Amino acid sequence: MSVLVTGGAGFIGSHTCLELLEAGYEVVVVDNLYNASQESIRRVEEITGKSLKFYKVDILDRDALEEVFEKEDIDSVIHFAGYKAVGESVKKPLEYYYNNITGTLILCDVMRKHACKSIVFSSSATVYGDPAFVPITEECPVGGVTNPYGRTKFMIEQILKDLYVSDHDWNIILLRYFNPIGAHESGKIGEDPKGIPNNLMPYVSQVAIGKLKCLGVFGDDYDTPDGTGVRDYIHVVDLAKGHVKALDKIDDMKKAGADEVKIYNLGTGNGVSVLELVHAFEKVIGRSIPYEIKPRRAGDIATCYADPTKAGKELNWKAVYDINKMCEDSWRWQSGNPNGYNE
Ligand code: UD1
Repeated sequence: MSVLVTGGAGFIGSHTCLELLEAGYEVVVVDNLYNASQESIRRVEEITGKSLKFYKVDILDRDALEEVFEKEDIDSVIHFAGYKAVGESVKKPLEYYYNNITGTLILCDVMRKHACKSIVFSSSATVYGDPAFVPITEECPVGGVTNPYGRTKFMIEQILKDLYVSDHDWNIILLRYFNPIGAHESGKIGEDPKGIPNNLMPYVSQVAIGKLKCLGVFGDDYDTPDGTGVRDYIHVVDLAKGHVKALDKIDDMKKAGADEVKIYNLGTGNGVSVLELVHAFEKVIGRSIPYEIKPRRAGDIATCYADPTKAGKELNWKAVYDINKMCEDSWRWQSGNPNGYNE
């Protein structure tokens, strides 16, 4: 019995494949390599000494996806595949809605046809919009999302909930990630964004390596301790392990029968400001990171961090790595692979 990982060659996907292999799962990856490199898969195999099955398949290609389900004995699916850049989604809403939503519809339809009805979906804290309260519990209202990317996550959550209502044989877990950073301790796999990074950590590490000159800090007048935005940064390895725990939970749900779609926040519960992250990174590299204060970025919120209690209780999962470890591991990856996977 295998786990199918869509988008398994990407940042979170590759780290999750690694943890799944370490936990003894058979892993099948489908990825169209639009925003990922097959080299990540090769390195996952190198690190673990185990192999996985890779298919360069776009989940929009129903026939190709069907073939994978015919060849492999897929027991459950972890669904990462999707576009993920907030700014780009504002400029290309049709592409974002089509790719993320239609991809998920085709995937679920093909799963149903092959009697595979267990799925863990890669959702995001973005569904909480500007959160009604912090720390954010799973009961916090969702839907006030400010961009098409975030709305695809919100809509896919709704679609999967409707799917469960229509057929209680489905076992569905929605994982709402906070801000994944860091890299595997080996320094061999990590985040490899295309072009100029949008997210804070890859920007900071590219300034540190000299590819970018100066970090822009988007706003220092938020209602936060130092005025800069506060987020719940989570080590990608902790996040990846959360997926292994989610599959254990899916197993329990299969045995007992799922009574609902399960939703879990995956975060540390700690808020860290932009400047705190910059200073933690400076400590790791032993030099300062040039930065300048810029205006606020449209759509940004002041503060966002998780209450991860529910995942602790029901998944037996807890993030263990702190911000220093996240910076150390991001730096090991960035300094060892200045051009990401394209050496
Ligand atoms: C963003 C997305 C979120 C997505 C996540 C992962 C928005 C509003 N949210 O989260 O939907 O799931 O990325 O892809 O875009 N910052 C700077 N300078 C920079 C970059 C960021 O000061 O060059 C600040 C931001 O203002 C924010 C913090 O750093 O306060 C984190 O930003 P980022 O890494 O982009 O993540 P989010 O905006 O939280």
